[in-house]
Amino acid sequence: MKKNKATITAIGKYTPEKILNNFDLEKMVDTTDKWIRTRTGIFERHIAAEGEATSDMAIAAFKDMQKRFGTNPEEIDVIVVATITPDMFFPSTAALIQDGIGATNAWGFDLSAACSGFIYAMVVATQLVESGRYKKVLVVGSDTMSTITDYTNRDTCVLFGDAASVVLVEPSENEEYGVIDYLVKMDGKGKDLLYMAAGGSRNPATHETVDKKMHYIYQEGKPVFKFAVSKMAEISTELLKRNSLKGSDVGLFVPHQANKRIIDACVNRLKLEDSQVMINIDKYANTTAATIPLGIVDGYDEGRLKKGDLLLISAFGGGFTWGSMLIRWSL
Ligand code: UT7
Repeated sequence: MKKNKATITAIGKYTPEKILNNFDLEKMVDTTDKWIRTRTGIFERHIAAEGEATSDMAIAAFKDMQKRFGTNPEEIDVIVVATITPDMFFPSTAALIQDGIGATNAWGFDLSAACSGFIYAMVVATQLVESGRYKKVLVVGSDTMSTITDYTNRDTCVLFGDAASVVLVEPSENEEYGVIDYLVKMDGKGKDLLYMAAGGSRNPATHETVDKKMHYIYQEGKPVFKFAVSKMAEISTELLKRNSLKGSDVGLFVPHQANKRIIDACVNRLKLEDSQVMINIDKYANTTAATIPLGIVDGYDEGRLKKGDLLLISAFGGGFTWGSMLIRWSL
């Protein structure tokens, strides 16, 4: 089978209507707008409505894609969903999205790589398309972080938000455009620093796990911060270097949005200018698998991502997992 180059041919996003800003949080926990803004860069985050789940947001993001690009759901071959907040353990969120959008000819699955989920899913989609076997792969980054956030814990409740964003990966009509290269890594030793303890087979849900708040995100912020900066900068540098590219060649850098200080430190190490970097953490906070596709859509809408630009995406998250991808933008 002929090897195709894979590229992004359509994009869409969805953010819930409800907004929770730093002043609202000041009334809920012992925090201040100033602390949140200076330590994280976040001002507000979107929060899903009661009963609104990860698949609902993804379906809404697909509808946005359909409105913009006229995507026909029946032509989709595969749906890959990056999420750590699936609607339920099974069926997969991919199955729920397939039904919701009417992608009657698609198969698909969920993929769990926390904040690196979108990059992992893009690697899978790229392989599926490059193999020549599949023509249209819908990649979804969707997380309802508010459902696993303890709004009495100031260490974590200021950091997260809810959103979904989707991209369509297809064979590139022009060899110049599309996914150039990627690197993805994992180090399971990070398992003790960022996790949700209960609800799985290790600690099934009991009254005790609920009482002990084990169904919420646990994070040791400081060490995670250090790993995030060094790993995202390291892997992006390695990826650029092995493709004989420099920081100055990058049109837009869309990093995972966990903390503006992490992004600034990476940008510094990669020797990028502010004009090359997408930062929207102030509006959405950390939406886990959705941060990068949201950044791509916003960059595109703001005219900062134009046809032919070199797009660099990079993420770090729970596991630990991390990765970077280089794409010659084709929209
Ligand atoms: O996306 C997945 C990967 N996740 C990340 O990349 C997140 C990485 N970590 C971080 O972004 C940062 O470590 C945090 C934003 C989570 C925390 O920032 P920090 O600068 O590392 O703060 P800290 O945890 O060292 O806390 C500094 C102080 C502490 O007070 P003391 O002990 O110095 O008196 C905290 O109790 O800030 C306090 N603090 C807060 N104060 C007001 C922690 N959270 C808050 C808060 N409001 N929300």
